[in-house]
Amino acid sequence: MNILLADMQHEKLTGTSLDIAAENRAGLKQLFPSVFTETRNDQGELTESIDFEKLKAEIGTFSDLFESRRERYGMEWPGKKEALHLIQTLSSATLKPCRQESVNFDTTENLFIEGDNLEVLKLLQTSYYGKVKMIYIDPPYNTGKEFIYPDNFSESLETYLEYAGLIDGDGKKFSTNTANAGRFHTNWLNMMYPRLYLARNLLRDDGVIFISIDDNEVSNLRKLCDEIFGEENQFGVFLWKRRQNPDSRNQSNISPDHEYVIAYAKNSSVELLGVDIDTAKYQNPDNDPRGAWASIDLSGLATKEQRPNLHYDIIDPNTAIAYPPNPNRGWSKSKAVVTQMITEERVLFPKSPEGRPREKKFLNDLKSDITGFSTWLDSKEVGFTTHGTRELTKLFDNKIFDFPKPSSLIKLLVKQTTETDDIILDFFAGSATTAHAVLDLNKQDKGNRKFILVQLPEPCAPESEAFKAGYKTIADISKERIRRVINKLNTEEEGKLDLDNAGKQDRGFKVLKLDKSNFRQWQNLEPSASPKRILEQLTLHIDHIDAKATPEELLYEILLKAGFTLTGSIETKTITGKELFSVSDGALLLCLEESVTKELIDAVIELNPQQFLCLDSAFHGNDQLKANAVQTFNAHNMQKEKHNQILFKTL
Ligand SMILES: C[S@@+](CC[C@H](N)C(=O)[O-])C[C@H]1O[C@@H](n2cnc3c(N)ncnc32)[C@H](O)[C@@H]1O
Repeated sequence: MNILLADMQHEKLTGTSLDIAAENRAGLKQLFPSVFTETRNDQGELTESIDFEKLKAEIGTFSDLFESRRERYGMEWPGKKEALHLIQTLSSATLKPCRQESVNFDTTENLFIEGDNLEVLKLLQTSYYGKVKMIYIDPPYNTGKEFIYPDNFSESLETYLEYAGLIDGDGKKFSTNTANAGRFHTNWLNMMYPRLYLARNLLRDDGVIFISIDDNEVSNLRKLCDEIFGEENQFGVFLWKRRQNPDSRNQSNISPDHEYVIAYAKNSSVELLGVDIDTAKYQNPDNDPRGAWASIDLSGLATKEQRPNLHYDIIDPNTAIAYPPNPNRGWSKSKAVVTQMITEERVLFPKSPEGRPREKKFLNDLKSDITGFSTWLDSKEVGFTTHGTRELTKLFDNKIFDFPKPSSLIKLLVKQTTETDDIILDFFAGSATTAHAVLDLNKQDKGNRKFILVQLPEPCAPESEAFKAGYKTIADISKERIRRVINKLNTEEEGKLDLDNAGKQDRGFKVLKLDKSNFRQWQNLEPSASPKRILEQLTLHIDHIDAKATPEELLYEILLKAGFTLTGSIETKTITGKELFSVSDGALLLCLEESVTKELIDAVIELNPQQFLCLDSAFHGNDQLKANAVQTFNAHNMQKEKHNQILFKTL
C-alpha cells in the first residue's frame, strides 16, 4: 500500500497524490525482488536500480520483448510519452468541501466533484485505489464540435485554475478541437490515455468500466483500452440504437443511428447478472404431466462440409416421414441425441412433410432461469437519445443540455454489474445522468449504491437556454439535476411512507471543488535563484498552512492525502482539553490545535488509532517534546503487530 509505517522516525504527511511510478516499482519489486540492485550514479551516490538483464532471465521466453530493433505491434501517437509522464506527475491540489451546495453533507456517501477529471483522478488514487466496482463514462466523442480539455504537460493545476477563473477571475476559454487543427486524434488520445490509466487503478479486482463512444473514435478507443486494460479483459462491445428516425441531414443516404458502449474488466473473469428467461412462452396445451414447455428450433448453424454428423434425416416413428435438415444449417444435435429425445417424446413433428421437427423443451429442465445479456442494447428497454432529452427537459421545464443519455441506459449497466453498497464512478458526468440512474435504481431495488461524479465547470454558452436560466457552467446543471432528482424521489414517497425504506436511502450528495492545496508546496528553485527569492521561499515555509484555510478544508485535504475515503464518519472529540477530529470510527485522529502536550500523546496511544496527525508547529520548536512523542509512539509500536501500530505524522 502507499502509506509506509515510519520505522523509527516520524514523517511529514506528503502533500501530493499517490506516486504512480513508485507504486509500479513497488509492484515489480514484489514480483521480482532479485532484479533490484544498487549502483552508483554519476554523482557517486548509491541508488537503487533495476538489473534489466536479470529481469530478462526472470521472464524467460518473453525476453524478445527487450529487442528494440525488431518491429513491434502497438499503438503510437505523438505525445504518448508526455501523456505517460503526465500520469506520473504528482498532484499537490486538494478538494475543498462546499456545504452550501450539498444535500445532507454530514451523512451522505455520494460525491460530486467539480474540477478537471485528470487532477481529480490523481487525487482519488490514495483513498479510492481498488474500491470502485463500476465506472461509466461518456467522454467527448471527438466530433469536432465539442471542446477537448487541453492538458498542459507541465502545469495542469495552473491550467485548471486559470480555466475555472480561480486565478484571474474571468476564466480562460479553450477552443474546440476541430478537424482542421491537424492533430485531431492526437489531442483526443492524449486527453484519454492518462485518464483511463488512472481510472483502472480505482477499479476493484472484480470491477468493470463501460465507455460510450461513436464511430469517430471507436477504433482508437478499443486499441487504447486493449493497451491499458489488456485485450483479454475486453468483455463486450455493445451496440445502442440511439435514434428512432433516420437523420434527414445525412448526405450519403446512410443515417448513422447507432453508437457503442465498450466494456472492459479489471480482470477477465467478469460475470454480468444476465436477463431473466421469458417464461411466458412456456405453456402446457396438451396437459403434459412434465409441465409447461416451449417449442424450440432444432436447426443448427453449420453446413454439411463443416459438420457432416449434424446433417441427417429425422424420421417420425409414427408416420415414417423423413425430414431432411436445412442444407445450410443442419441440426443442432447429433443423431444419437435426437433418437433418444424421440423415445422420450421430446420432439414435436410437423403436420406437413414440408415443416421441420422442433424440440419440446420443458421449463423444469432449464438449468438456470437467466440467459445471456445481449450485446444489442434494446432501445425498447433503454430508450433513445430523445428519451434522455425528454427526461431532462421535464425535470427542468427547459432544454438545458444537449444529448444527455437516457438514465434507463445507465441504469441497466449499473444493474447488470453492481450490488447494493457498491461505488459507481462517472468522471465525464455532463448533466449527471449517472447520479439519476443510481438514485432511481436504489429506490427500485432498495439498494445503497454510492456514486462519485466528476465534472468540469465548463462554461455554458451565453446564448444557451442553460445560461439564460442562470446556469453558468455545466457543473451547475449537474448539481441542480441531482437536487431535483432527490426532491422528486422524496416527494413521490411523501404520504405513502415506505416503511422498509424510510430513512435508509442515501438521498444526498457532497460537493467538493478542485483547488490549490492548503499547504504550501516547496518550489524547486532554479540554481540561479536570487537570495531574495530563496528567502521568500523560506519565509513561506515557516508557516506553510494557508491562513485562510478552514479546519474542514484542512481535514478533507488530509483525508485525501492520508488515504481515507471522503465519506467516512467524522466526529470531534475533546481529549485532555484538546479538540480532535476522529475519522472513520477513530481510525484517524487529527489535531489541528496550536499546541500539543505529553498528556495528549499518552491519551492518543490509549485510543490506538491507525494514524495520528498534528501540526508540526504545535511543538513550538520544543525538540524535546517532539523527540519524546516520537519515542512514545516507537515504544508502543515495537510491542505491537504491524497492523496494530500507530502511524504518527506531522503537517
Ligand atoms: C458527453 S458529455 C457527458 C454527458 C452525460 N453522460 C449525460 O448524460 O449528461 C461529456 C462531459 O464531459 C465533460 N468534460 C470534458 N472534459 C472534462 C474534464 N477534463 N474533466 C471533467 N469533465 C470533462 C464535458 O464538460 C461534458 O459535459
